[in-house]
Amino acid sequence: MAGNINLHAANKAKKDEFYTQLVDIENELKHYKHYFKGKTVLCNCDDPRISNFFHYFSYNFEQLGLKKLITTCYKNQNRDLFSQNDSERAIWLEYYGDRNGNRVPDPEEIGIHYFNGDGDFRSAECIDLLKEADIVVTNPPFSLFREYVAQLMKYEKKFVIIGNQNAITNKDFFPLIRDNKIWLGYGFKGGAGHFISKYEDVATAGDHREGMIRVSGVNWFTNLEIPKRHEGLILYKTYNPEEYPKYDNYDAINIDKTSEIPMDYDGFMGVPITFMDKYNPEQFEILGICAGNSRLNKFYGIVPYTPHVEDRGGCAVLNNKRVYSRILIRRRQAEPHQIATYEQGEGSLPMAADE
Ligand SMILES: C[S@@+](CC[C@H](N)C(=O)[O-])C[C@H]1O[C@@H](n2cnc3c(N)ncnc32)[C@H](O)[C@@H]1O
Repeated sequence: MAGNINLHAANKAKKDEFYTQLVDIENELKHYKHYFKGKTVLCNCDDPRISNFFHYFSYNFEQLGLKKLITTCYKNQNRDLFSQNDSERAIWLEYYGDRNGNRVPDPEEIGIHYFNGDGDFRSAECIDLLKEADIVVTNPPFSLFREYVAQLMKYEKKFVIIGNQNAITNKDFFPLIRDNKIWLGYGFKGGAGHFISKYEDVATAGDHREGMIRVSGVNWFTNLEIPKRHEGLILYKTYNPEEYPKYDNYDAINIDKTSEIPMDYDGFMGVPITFMDKYNPEQFEILGICAGNSRLNKFYGIVPYTPHVEDRGGCAVLNNKRVYSRILIRRRQAEPHQIATYEQGEGSLPMAADE
């Protein structure tokens, strides 16, 4: 497997300075274009001198039919980091689109304002801008991801943001995934992204790109409806107890690969967290999670559980050995032909989150 920046270590060291490529933003946002018409978009972790989110929305302002773009820039306290946020004060920008007809966001068309504080997304000044926004789109600092999402939920904002898939096992984040309040977007090819950064890249030669770090397990998270999450996963395997043994501590069978979920098993199943990329709420229901803290938080839901000496607070155990985090799911009773299909565009969707 290719080497990757160790995100756990990066989080601890608060290594948040890596920047999203324009091509990755374009590849994801092409699926959401119809949501932006007449809307105010906020990019609130974005130095406009560097951020391709600012670039994307300012250059596509007219095409998307935006009402307003707000971008806020954090004044970094740590001078060693990549960001050149060394201006005296943090700023925020507002842009109402092209005025002189050249289809380019010129400096005189962009309103520059100074914050009193440092532009922290949690500050009162930034929260006022958040309240004004309809849709928030950015790659927030991974080290503050939970807080970042909690704030979006508190202010009931629509969003498309980048985060690490490990967030799924977090005790505050998991319930949002389980309850269909957040889901995965279209994502990065192979589940890994290349971000513009000065951090040392430990990717193997074939995966290395100059001036970038390869980050594995990154994904887009959103609460905007997308057709992807209504596509049925095509299953081809059938259940047999030898191939799909039950855990020692959960009344659920173990599945190592999402593609190998048996099509005919109606009981509880433990699947890897990468399952979330294929999750269709009409096809499966999420009941819980087996991870280190799941027992404490009762995240195994209705799945019968017996404590095991090896489970360290709730990990699934198979033949006395702990397995990686597993999401506990159950097949919905619908036949495959009953799974809703959805063409992108107008119309209401089954299982839509509250709009
Ligand atoms: C992963 S980088 C992504 C930057 C940019 N959104 C992009 O995708 O190119 C996260 C950014 O959040 C900024 N940041 C860190 N802490 C912040 C905070 N408390 N409030 C706002 N921004 C913050 C960092 O300085 C960094 O530039």
